Amino acid sequence: MPMAQRPPSSCSARPRSPGTAVWFLPAAALLLVVLLRWPPMGSYPPVPPRGSGSVPARRAELYSKMARDLDERGAAFLRGGETSQSLTLTDLFDTGDDGAVVPRLKAADPPVRANVLHLDPEFATVISKAVKEVFLPYFDQVIWFQNTSMYHFSMFHASHHLEPIVATDDEIEAEVEATERVTKTVCPLKVVLDRVVLTSTGVLLGLWQVESGTDPAEIRSRLREALPRAPQKQLYDPVLLHTSFARILGHPKLPEEQSAPSFDHVKFFHGLVARVNEKIHGFQATVSELWYVEEYDVLALALNGKMKVRRLHLGCNHQGNENS
Ligand SMILES: *[C@@H]1O[C@H](CO)[C@@H](O)[C@H](O)[C@H]1NC(C)=O
Repeated sequence: MPMAQRPPSSCSARPRSPGTAVWFLPAAALLLVVLLRWPPMGSYPPVPPRGSGSVPARRAELYSKMARDLDERGAAFLRGGETSQSLTLTDLFDTGDDGAVVPRLKAADPPVRANVLHLDPEFATVISKAVKEVFLPYFDQVIWFQNTSMYHFSMFHASHHLEPIVATDDEIEAEVEATERVTKTVCPLKVVLDRVVLTSTGVLLGLWQVESGTDPAEIRSRLREALPRAPQKQLYDPVLLHTSFARILGHPKLPEEQSAPSFDHVKFFHGLVARVNEKIHGFQATVSELWYVEEYDVLALALNGKMKVRRLHLGCNHQGNENS
């Protein structure tokens, strides 16, 4: 079995002050909503159920809705302080000695167990370079870039923060084995970057279409069958295939003349996103691994937290049910 264990990241050794907990829990809850529950549940009419349109068409429809989010809600991440929660994503990050943002990590109890498709760094670095070229000049200290070793497409949770399913070590190993039996039947995917969007919460997302391989909707359905204890309510629309590229944590640095109150931030952000799209729209990648990840820190995959990763190769065996 292809297995790899990742050492705890050095970030996890960061000292935490006792006062941290006071703001951390509500802030973490907000971040979870912002980062994980995409699209926010109930905010859009559901994509038509299976059978009433092809999966690519349903995916395209979902992506169009997601692309409209910034226009419909505005740049909510710039108004964080005005909400009743009075919390912004910036509360979850510190500034390191070198001036870059570093996440404040918080143990996830119980750990989240996530199945994600992994995007090889060979592809992720191309995307990251394009995103940085466009965004870094404006958001130097207030943007968090996804680690290129950890680009992923969330598929299915065996346990998540909204419905934790506690499991013993043995039960976790059984889940890994069940997941591996699924991955043996799943064929590697050729995916193409349909578009890049910026959400009203400041997350820069890549939205992908599938050219060949086992469709994510089908992968999720096989994982559901293999992991019967998993939360009934999953976090994502079954057809969604997305990766997070970056999270904007504050206001852009702009020349004087653009910092007038009348400055149209949404238009400005659309301009940046359009430039990223010009660079990487249509980018093709191959996905050949599914990772079963135990996240010991809240949002470990997103924030370089502590986690244990089992890398499972997509085997593409014909239904491969001999050993199930
Ligand atoms: C990115 O992730 C890799 C693998 O976990 C880790 O070794 C590396 O330190 C991370 N990079 C940063 C900047 O944290």
